[in-house]
Amino acid sequence: MNTIASLKWRYATKKFSDRKVSAEAIDKILESINLSASSTGLQPYRIVVVENPSLKESLAEGSFNTQIATCSHLLVFAAFTKVTIEQIDAYMQQIAKEREIPLAALEDFKTALVGGILSRLDEENAAWAARQAYIALGTALISAAELKIDSTPMEGFDAKKFDSLLNLESQGLTSVVTLALGYRDEQNDVYAALKKVRLPITELVSFVK
Ligand SMILES: Cc1cc2nc3c(=O)[nH]c(=O)nc-3n(C[C@H](O)[C@H](O)[C@H](O)COP(=O)(O)O)c2cc1C
Repeated sequence: MNTIASLKWRYATKKFSDRKVSAEAIDKILESINLSASSTGLQPYRIVVVENPSLKESLAEGSFNTQIATCSHLLVFAAFTKVTIEQIDAYMQQIAKEREIPLAALEDFKTALVGGILSRLDEENAAWAARQAYIALGTALISAAELKIDSTPMEGFDAKKFDSLLNLESQGLTSVVTLALGYRDEQNDVYAALKKVRLPITELVSFVK
């Protein structure tokens, strides 16, 4: 399937069937997320995959999004609430290792990151980290659609409860957005047959010459 056809096929699924997504397909979506672009390449977020039915139910309690409980797998995109020198150092080490170059060759890049990122308030970096997580969400949405796996991006959840039940706070993380994965219950999900509502492309886009 080409990308446009996949994007026309996907929709924010409201009702999932009982069918489970295979571990192989989940791995592909996770690999797509890992290949997502992020500012400076720092990937200031982590993904938690929840499959356990009772945990999904606890997470769904009190939310209008029943998909949290009924999906096959729930991906929680959790962003760091602070960026630290340790994270930047670990990233430098990783680049040096992967690209087989001395750490000293990265001195200017590190100085730019430290100056640009660590000079900001923690709140600014938390918002920046969350924005990077949303880019990863977009990648996951496209990847799932191309694999013909249904999904629902969701902001409608209790972040405090998620952070506590998933032990995110102790890792310096907070949940920012979630993605339910599974297969649509075509018979019972009225949204499955609804026409997509999008702007005319001419309203969305302007070309500057
Ligand atoms: C960041 C984000 C948060 C969303 N939150 C919810 C949500 O909490 N519950 C839900 O059912 N859909 C949610 N949606 C789905 C949107 O309502 C949906 O993408 C939009 O109406 C366009 O419809 P379509 O995705 O089916 O084409 C969210 C989408 C995005 C991108």
